[in-house]
Amino acid sequence: MEDWKHTPERNAPCWCGSGKKYKLCHMRQDERIRMWEREGHIVPTPGMIKNEKQIDGIRESGKINTAVLDHVAAHICAGMSTEQIDRLVEEKTRAFGAIPAPLGYEGFPKSVCTSLNDQVCHGIPSRDVILKEGDIVNVDVSTIYRGYYSDSSRMFIIGETTPERARLVQTAKECMQAGIAQVKPWQFLGDMADAVKQCAQKNGCSVVEEIGGHGVGLEFHEDPFVSYVAPKGTEMLMVPGMVFTIEPMINAGTEEICIDEENGWTIYTQDGKPSAQWEVTVAVTLDGCEILAW
Ligand code: MF3
Ligand code: CO
Repeated sequence: MEDWKHTPERNAPCWCGSGKKYKLCHMRQDERIRMWEREGHIVPTPGMIKNEKQIDGIRESGKINTAVLDHVAAHICAGMSTEQIDRLVEEKTRAFGAIPAPLGYEGFPKSVCTSLNDQVCHGIPSRDVILKEGDIVNVDVSTIYRGYYSDSSRMFIIGETTPERARLVQTAKECMQAGIAQVKPWQFLGDMADAVKQCAQKNGCSVVEEIGGHGVGLEFHEDPFVSYVAPKGTEMLMVPGMVFTIEPMINAGTEEICIDEENGWTIYTQDGKPSAQWEVTVAVTLDGCEILAW
């Protein structure tokens, strides 16, 4: 089904593939979506609404993603190279019978992103990057399991760090949590974004604009783009069955970023101050959200 104007007849099977009659499945929800669309709001396309079987699949993928990050958490330490983190992620993922989604994705050369200090995201694991006391590092893991994708990341502090970096890591976590608290059906992605931005500003930090979250589940990166700077009441209506990431990138200084021209991947803060990010995959439920990977 392409849009909300061409829905099935009430006794016909639902478009979602559940096998139920439309009137007993998505009919009422679709009427509600059409109402918001008439009011001029951005609404998801039918393709963005996952059915129960698909959410079950993404949940299983997310369990592996979470376990892989737990494995990293148990082993990460000073003196380790980011290449070793890549090995930990690849081996653990394969041990579950899953595939690391980053490997070969648009030419990305490794199985995980490892972004240190002033790196905002898409750091490439390397033998030459050795974790040292005081570093803050984001480890961003994404898994494909039985065709279903999940995506989450955490920050790790190596030993003891500076108060500025420690505060930033904490603020980034609170920003993500503030966003999660606003994931509810029939509210807007902008409501979630506004909560993230308010939390960052209250703590004297900035939010990266150009890179955001994304739908996820049947592919690595699906629509919609998820902003963390949009105003309340704007952006897409959240509807049960949508699955996307909450992954704001929070900077201690300016929100401005630049790309590593040599590798074409790694994003840095313009001012060289640190950046931090936490990421979860969430599904919108009937009354809030479910975290599928963290
Ligand atoms: N995991 C990142 C995200 O949160 C995507 C990284 S793309 C890669 O969307 F190719 F660098 F892995
Ligand atoms: Co992501």
